[in-house]
Amino acid sequence: MNETVLISSEGGIATVTINRPKALNAINADVMQALNDWFGKEYKTIEGLKGVIVTGSGEKAFVAGADIKGFTNLTVESGSKVSKFGQETFFLIENFHVPVIAAVNGFALGGGCELAMSCHMRVASMNAKFGLPEVSLGLIPGYGGTQRLPQLVGKAKAMELTLTGGMVTAEEAHDIGLVNYAVEKDELIDTCMGIFKKTKSKGPLAVSKAIAAINAYYDNAKNGYETEYSTFGDLLVSDECKEGVSAFIEKRKANF
Ligand code: CAA
Repeated sequence: MNETVLISSEGGIATVTINRPKALNAINADVMQALNDWFGKEYKTIEGLKGVIVTGSGEKAFVAGADIKGFTNLTVESGSKVSKFGQETFFLIENFHVPVIAAVNGFALGGGCELAMSCHMRVASMNAKFGLPEVSLGLIPGYGGTQRLPQLVGKAKAMELTLTGGMVTAEEAHDIGLVNYAVEKDELIDTCMGIFKKTKSKGPLAVSKAIAAINAYYDNAKNGYETEYSTFGDLLVSDECKEGVSAFIEKRKANF
C-alpha cells in the first residue's frame, strides 16, 4: 500500500481514503494499483472485516476523476490498458464479499463518480457533486461509467449526464437514484455506520451471497435467477441458516 491510499479500521469497518487532496484525489497509477492491491488481497490483514467505507481526503473532493495530467503520453494500447485495469479494479470493489459504501464528501467526477458507482451503496454529503465530464476532454468514461450509470439511473438520464458532461448536486443525485442518501456533511460517516450496524448483525454468508446474486443480474455471462435458486439451496443447509432459523423459532437473537 502506498501513501496515496490510506487504510484504517475500527470494529470490523475499514476505511479506504484516497489521499491526494492537492490534486482533488485524482486517481493516478499509484492510487489505482493501491486500490487493486487492497481489494484484491490486502484486505485479508483485517480480522473480522464486516464493511468498507471508501472516501476522499480533504474538504473539497471525493475523487475528481482519473489524473488528467497522466493522459498526455498514452497510446492506443497503453490507454486501453489503463482503462481495463481500472475496470478490473472496480470489479473487485463491486464483487467484494462485504458491503462497500462510498462516503462522497465533495466532487465525484469522471473516474471518481465511477469509483462511487462501483461501491454497493453511496452516501453523499450536501456539498457533493456528481458527473461524468469526460466528453469535455474528448473522451468517454473509462472505468465502467458507461455501463454502471444506466444501471443506476436509467438510460435516458445516463445519456443526458454523459453526453452533456454536466454535474448534479447531492440532492439531484438522490432524486435520480444515483445515491442512497444525501445528508449534512457531519452526518456522512454516521449514516454509513448506521447502514453497517444493520448489515453487521445479519448472516455474513447470506450478505455476501446477496451481493453476488444482485450483481449476477448485471452480468451477461450469468443467469441471475439461476444464481438465486442455487444460492438459496446452498444457504438453506448452511450452519448460518440453521442458526438463523433456530433463533427465529426459539424467539432469540441469532448468533452468527
Ligand atoms: N486530474 C488531475 N488533476 C486534477 C484533476 C484531475 N482529474 N482534477 C483536479 N485536479 C487538480 C487541478 O489541476 C489543480 O491542480 P493545481 O493546483 O496543480 O493546478 C487542483 O487539482 C485543484 O483543482 P482546481 O484548481 O481545478 O479546483 P476548482 O475548484 O477550480 O475546480 C473541479 C474543481 C471542477 C473539480 C476541476 O478541478 C475539474 O474540472 N477537474 C477535472 C474533472 C474531470 O474532468 N474529471 C474527469 C477526468 S477524466 C476521467 O476520469 C476518465 C475516466 O473515466 C477514466
